Amino acid sequence: MEQKATNIVWHDMNVKREHREELLSQKSVLLWFTGLSGSGKSTVASALEKRLHEMGKITYLLDGDNIRHGLNSDLGFSEEDRIENIRRIGEVSKLIVDAGIITISTFISPFKKDREKIRDLLGKDFIEVFIDCPLEVCEQRDPKGIYKKARNGEIKNFTGIDSPYENPENPEITVSTYLNNLDECVDKIIEYLNY
Ligand code: PPS
Repeated sequence: MEQKATNIVWHDMNVKREHREELLSQKSVLLWFTGLSGSGKSTVASALEKRLHEMGKITYLLDGDNIRHGLNSDLGFSEEDRIENIRRIGEVSKLIVDAGIITISTFISPFKKDREKIRDLLGKDFIEVFIDCPLEVCEQRDPKGIYKKARNGEIKNFTGIDSPYENPENPEITVSTYLNNLDECVDKIIEYLNY
């Protein structure tokens, strides 16, 4: 690998985030969804995005499975690759927030340390949304049949089975998809945002 670049200087541009936000009549934030596979991250995020769109908000949704088809198609599910996956998404999310857009990022993001790094990167614009659902329920749902494969040993390093998931300690929002229906889950996030 080549040496890291040196002699690079940050350039401040004329049009800034606040100018873009003013044009869009909104304040951008990052809603970071974390939770087990099958917990409902993509379902809640997509319903939330629809609700925000109907309210006239400009949004963008970054989703684990989708990003792994493109930007992060070179990464797998080892601890090292998951760390890099989340680091890149944190940086991309920051760019989209800087564009003035309300950003929803949905990734298992199993490690607390990596989520905290994104919190540090975004500061007050970071809103952690814990999609809470017990492993047994996720495994029962198994919409993609992947828990079955993980239990059979066909998939290695599967979160919750043979790879850890660290629950958030102080998330801004906790949504319990095993207790509440989809509308109630979305309502809770909308109430927090208070637009
Ligand atoms: S991570 O841990 O944040 O880097 O994972 P993420 O980028 O969100 O990707 C999770 C989706 O990849 C599928 N998948 C796996 N998940 C966990 N562990 C292993 N080994 C694995 N292999 C494939 C799975 O469908 C996840 O999608 P969701 O939407 O979470 O169910």
